[in-house]
Amino acid sequence: MNEPTMKRRLRSVGRQGRTVVTRGKAVLRRAVGPDEELQAKLDFANSEVRRLRSLVKAERKTSARWKKELQLTRRSLMDPLPRAELPDGVAETIERARGERLSYLGIPELTVLARQVHDADLAGREGLIIEAGTARGGSAIVMAAAKDPARPMKVYDVFDQIPAPTDADGSDVKKRYEQIQAGGARGVAGDTYYGYRDDLYTEVTESFARLGVPVEDNNVELVKGLFADTIDLDQPVAFAHLDGDWYESTMTCLERIVPLLSRGGRIVLDDYFHWSGCRTAVDEYFANRSGFLLERRNKVHVIKL
Ligand SMILES: C[S@@+](CC[C@H](N)C(=O)[O-])C[C@H]1O[C@@H](n2cnc3c(N)ncnc32)[C@H](O)[C@@H]1O
Repeated sequence: MNEPTMKRRLRSVGRQGRTVVTRGKAVLRRAVGPDEELQAKLDFANSEVRRLRSLVKAERKTSARWKKELQLTRRSLMDPLPRAELPDGVAETIERARGERLSYLGIPELTVLARQVHDADLAGREGLIIEAGTARGGSAIVMAAAKDPARPMKVYDVFDQIPAPTDADGSDVKKRYEQIQAGGARGVAGDTYYGYRDDLYTEVTESFARLGVPVEDNNVELVKGLFADTIDLDQPVAFAHLDGDWYESTMTCLERIVPLLSRGGRIVLDDYFHWSGCRTAVDEYFANRSGFLLERRNKVHVIKL
């Protein structure tokens, strides 16, 4: 039973209860017939009120149970591992990354990334952890905090202003890029937009250290440059977070990373539902490709079968 139906039922039960009480009072007022008859009618009215009250109580309990189920379903639609524990300290790193406005992602989305990275360790899945598109580093820092420090991670970004879109991107992207170029873009909660910051590479390196995951102690490499010039891999990939927004950026990452995914390995595509170019690239790339499962959650997940 869905929530509106449940509410309608509760209202109807309440109405029935009120009707019984009103009728009982009317009987009293009229006070026809002998005392026993009146008493019997009153007893009946009282027992009806008790019955309806317990019915309302039971319906309320059912409604609360359905509400909880609905919440869990919503959560598991977004997160394939909604109940998975995180390694010690990672929840705090997520809070700090958000608190310092280092990521466009919210706490639930950052938690999904952390759980997936940790799951690669638990499952003994072979390969690198990758983030392509890091901006101020928040999501990469969370992923680095969640992984076994021995497992290598590569973080790719131009660490400067985002490259221009191409003809394969739609008008939404073009409009956004014009705004960025005109100096009108804003960062998280009104901060200076990442593309206008002086030395993003140093800033991100320092943020990793400040949040307790120094790159040099955690096998993390920050690789500066265009994806097309820097992503050149020949080793397996266990998990990748692709967050490069535009068509070319996404297509380059898919072409160079998907063939290296380990069995059970996963890619989370941040922008599929947000930017037209990313959506076109993903649809084109996977149009006639078998061996992968595409899950449409609040982000698109690709799993190597
Ligand atoms: C939306 S931001 C990343 C947000 C970040 N993951 C977070 O959690 O807030 C996109 C990043 O991808 C970078 N980027 C996009 N296309 C790129 C490309 N072709 N080569 C290198 N970096 C690119 C941008 O410069 C920017 O830093």
